[in-house]
Amino acid sequence: MTSTGILIRNTQPRDIAGVVALQRECFPAPFPEELLWQAEHIARHLEIFPEGQWVAEHEGQIVASCTNLLLFEEHWQAHLDWESTVGGHFLRAHTPGGTTLYGVDLSVAPASRGQGIGRSLYQARFDFVRAHALSRYGTAVRMPDYQSQAQGQTPQAYAEAVAAGTLTDRTLTPLLRMGTEFLGVIENHMDDEESGHAAAILEWRP
Ligand SMILES: CC(C)(COP(=O)(O)OP(=O)(O)OC[C@H]1O[C@@H](n2cnc3c(N)ncnc32)[C@H](O)[C@@H]1OP(=O)(O)O)[C@@H](O)C(=O)NCCC(=O)NCCS
Repeated sequence: MTSTGILIRNTQPRDIAGVVALQRECFPAPFPEELLWQAEHIARHLEIFPEGQWVAEHEGQIVASCTNLLLFEEHWQAHLDWESTVGGHFLRAHTPGGTTLYGVDLSVAPASRGQGIGRSLYQARFDFVRAHALSRYGTAVRMPDYQSQAQGQTPQAYAEAVAAGTLTDRTLTPLLRMGTEFLGVIENHMDDEESGHAAAILEWRP
């Protein structure tokens, strides 16, 4: 339990409806709805890697969630598109024994943002990496203010400007502040117009 009464814990089957609803609040259009989790996807994540799924609960409500899987070193280093990296919605790429904890998503309810909940879920991820002696936490994150702010810059140049603090992005900036390091950009990562279809590669090493 955090000082603000938020409980961070592993996701349970009873949380599935709350997690599905939360995703829709957190990734509104123009983000493609078909990329969001359905209940059967979360149920599968809980079967294959229950210890790698977390929610934040406040007064009985699910206010945040995150999804993760394990990848082998070569798979992480390849920095492929979303579908190939995670193996689609059922996370077919999850590899028990993999050395990278890969973050697929992080969703904090709009009304609960800016209170450190995202940071607490990142802390759970980092604690997991340490506890299991993994090599890293890694992710490829959207940068939804690219389209409105890039002014002709490439996704790489835009992400570099955000990493340098010259520009602020509502998703990339918080994730960098949580302690991740910017490694580069994957072009054509997923169907994500706001991000120029690109994603920023982020890593945290213990
Ligand atoms: C991105 C997101 C997860 C942040 O969660 P959050 O709980 O609001 O973040 P926190 O309160 O833990 O803030 C962490 C840090 O980021 C900063 N931050 C948070 N939102 C920010 C914003 N919009 N712009 C700039 N900085 C921001 C905070 O100031 C804090 O930094 P500090 O501690 O150094 O001051 C949340 O906005 C969200 O769910 N967005 C929609 C879904 C999404 O994009 N998910 C991530 C990719 S899958």
